[in-house]
Amino acid sequence: MSETETVVILGAGSGIGRAMAGELAARGSHLILAGRCLEELERVAGDCRLRFGADARALSFDALAFDEHAAFFQRCCECFGDGLDGIVLCHGEMPAEDRARADVAVARRMIDVNYTSAVSILERAASYLADRGRGWICAVGSVAGDRGRPSNYLYGSSKAALGTYLAGLRARMAKSGVVVVTVKPGFVDTGMTYGLPGLFLVASAARVARDALRGVGRDRAVVYTPWFWAIIMLPIRLLPDRIFKRLEL
Ligand SMILES: NC(=O)c1ccc[n+]([C@@H]2O[C@H](COP(=O)([O-])OP(=O)(O)OC[C@H]3O[C@@H](n4cnc5c(N)ncnc54)[C@H](OP(=O)(O)O)[C@@H]3O)[C@@H](O)[C@H]2O)c1
Repeated sequence: MSETETVVILGAGSGIGRAMAGELAARGSHLILAGRCLEELERVAGDCRLRFGADARALSFDALAFDEHAAFFQRCCECFGDGLDGIVLCHGEMPAEDRARADVAVARRMIDVNYTSAVSILERAASYLADRGRGWICAVGSVAGDRGRPSNYLYGSSKAALGTYLAGLRARMAKSGVVVVTVKPGFVDTGMTYGLPGLFLVASAARVARDALRGVGRDRAVVYTPWFWAIIMLPIRLLPDRIFKRLEL
């Protein structure tokens, strides 16, 4: 990654997205901080300016406003006058699984936020970066996408769809010099998990952001973060169904 690159972060107002902003600001990137709450984004932008002297600007983005995605992406490309080098996709939601199971509108909304909106934005981004012949995409999936578990298979399936999409996009982009990284965090200490029972090995958002951006620098396909989640998820992915379905996961 060069020091003067321009990067847009979707979902930059909190959690992992906010930590990504700090990491990238420290590296001297120009930042476009996108999300729904401009007030919060302005706070993050002010923090990046104050602590790192970074040029950071807030931009309104609603993942569910599909009709506005084309204009939003255009604004990102024009924001600093020198195009766009990187896209960090951090926005997402995880409603309570029983609520999503009981109400398909809740499940559909989650799928649209976590998956459909990613396709809408990243297809534009991929074509744009391929034309430039460089750049990178770093999208936050989840270990929950590795296998459907009884406790969160709706959320998990939205992340699995994202992961499969990114694998195909990565292969498509390989010849054009565009890096596509799938980030798979375990539990992370953010608003999304606040107060949830049964969390373990909880990582900080800063750790996840660092691991993710190191993965971009090294052109990694998939980054489990922290690294030990690759080991934890291996048996979960490989267990035969007759055993897996007896487990309380
Ligand atoms: N926390 C974990 O344990 C964990 C583990 C694995 C993966 N992840 C993934 O990591 C990503 C970041 O989550 P987080 O942990 O940092 O939680 P978070 O703090 O709740 O961040 C989620 C972000 O998504 C944004 N968002 C939600 N709906 C949106 C919409 N319709 N349009 C635009 N932005 C929207 C939120 O913006 P608002 O402020 O406007 O709501 C917020 O900035 C998510 O994709 C999540 O699934 C998290």
